[in-house]
Amino acid sequence: MVVTPGSDGMPPHEGWSSRTAFILAAIGSAVGLGNLVRFPAEAAANGGGAFVLFYIFCILLIGLPVLLSETLIGRFGQSSATISVRRMAEASKASRYWEGLAGMGVLGSFMILAFYCVIGGWVLYYIGLFGADLFASGVTGGALTGMSAEGIAAIFPALQENGLMMTGLDIAFVAITLYFVARGVAGGIEIVAVWLMPAFFILLLGITIYGAFNGAFTEAVVYLFTTDFSKLTGSVMLAAVGQAFFSLSLGMAGMMTYGSYVSREVNLAGTSAIVAASDTAVALIAGLCVFPIVLAAGLSTEGGLGLMFNTLPHAFQSMPGGSIIGLLFFIMVGFAALTSSVALMEVPTAWAREKFNTPRALTAIVIAGLAMALGAASAYSFSTLADFHPLGLIPLFAGETVFETLDSVTAKLFMPIGAILTSIFVGWIAERRLIDSQTGLTGGMHQFWRFLVRWLCPLVLSLILIVGIFPSVAGG
Ligand code: TRP
Repeated sequence: MVVTPGSDGMPPHEGWSSRTAFILAAIGSAVGLGNLVRFPAEAAANGGGAFVLFYIFCILLIGLPVLLSETLIGRFGQSSATISVRRMAEASKASRYWEGLAGMGVLGSFMILAFYCVIGGWVLYYIGLFGADLFASGVTGGALTGMSAEGIAAIFPALQENGLMMTGLDIAFVAITLYFVARGVAGGIEIVAVWLMPAFFILLLGITIYGAFNGAFTEAVVYLFTTDFSKLTGSVMLAAVGQAFFSLSLGMAGMMTYGSYVSREVNLAGTSAIVAASDTAVALIAGLCVFPIVLAAGLSTEGGLGLMFNTLPHAFQSMPGGSIIGLLFFIMVGFAALTSSVALMEVPTAWAREKFNTPRALTAIVIAGLAMALGAASAYSFSTLADFHPLGLIPLFAGETVFETLDSVTAKLFMPIGAILTSIFVGWIAERRLIDSQTGLTGGMHQFWRFLVRWLCPLVLSLILIVGIFPSVAGG
């Protein structure tokens, strides 16, 4: 496939080996902890049906147009995110400083990578926990037999208290990610996606079907899809847009980077639609996977990260075959997390490689090392560093630990700012001849996309930014 040599003396750019490889890698980037951990937790916290419906609306009208815009910039530039934006800006006779929008995304991806891999480490821990449990109790037993409810409830807090263990697990997860990123686009990144994404889908469907027969499926459907519009407040809507953007990996230069490895013949509107549809399907199925299990055990569906790492292990205890289902479940989560962490590491790696003209493997090792260091600080956020608030002087981030700061700076500032600038850049700044022939859209659909990118996306995203900074605006 294509690989356009850099016109400015840069090394030839890498490329996906096929359109399918790109689609799987992009789905792999999108589908991750956001779908499996955050989506069900957000849906539960925001009242179910109305949130879910509004979420789908956001994916279609705001997420999808920006997804297409980002991929388009990447494919045009055939370079790391900043240089791709710069090339498009220069070709449009606009300021090259637009590349700053991608620079922020590169930094944001690195910050997400740092705390994402800490959660990836927890997943490794639970794979070990359920693996050992299966070994001890056999395939037919419920999970964690003989453990009291208090005992199970103590597992997650004990892990969070253990900074050293969490750091070790984080380092392991970063190292696995590094292994694939160091091997390159076709030789590593796409291998993970091509093997793990199909395996992920099989596991997700398998566990969901098993849960449907052994859990409270009807209750879960009612819970997720009963729509009470009175619950659709300003803050619920904003939570939905934020979740949609995080889930599609937008605003973080990720899709620009992956888009830069796509060949000229690929129809970007088509592939973007497939990616958005798959990501949304996975989020919905994840809800239908998690809630029947949790509701059948009579447990609360709320609780953020605790939903996965505290409530589910408890629910697996009373489920027939809970031990093996628990193990398969966390392996599945691990697969999804890995294909996303690979994307998160690739963004800064691609950037630094071009910036400093260094070999891929070496660059990736340095990025991984930095991510491990910041990951260690995040891991200790729950114990030794619990009182360390890196941005404590800024009211918006006061009282947040390293772990929380990384999440909230990227979610409240970088993601909306990056996405606003991307839509303004593509909708208003870039020359139309560079864009129009590239989208793969025609006629009315193309007009509609342009309208969304020029008007709706910047407007709605500015709202999220404002409410993110001044939460009182949304009224709670
Ligand atoms: N979309 C990923 C998930 O749902 C997380 C993510 C956010 C991401 N931004 C990203 C992944 C940028 C890759 C690149 O888990």
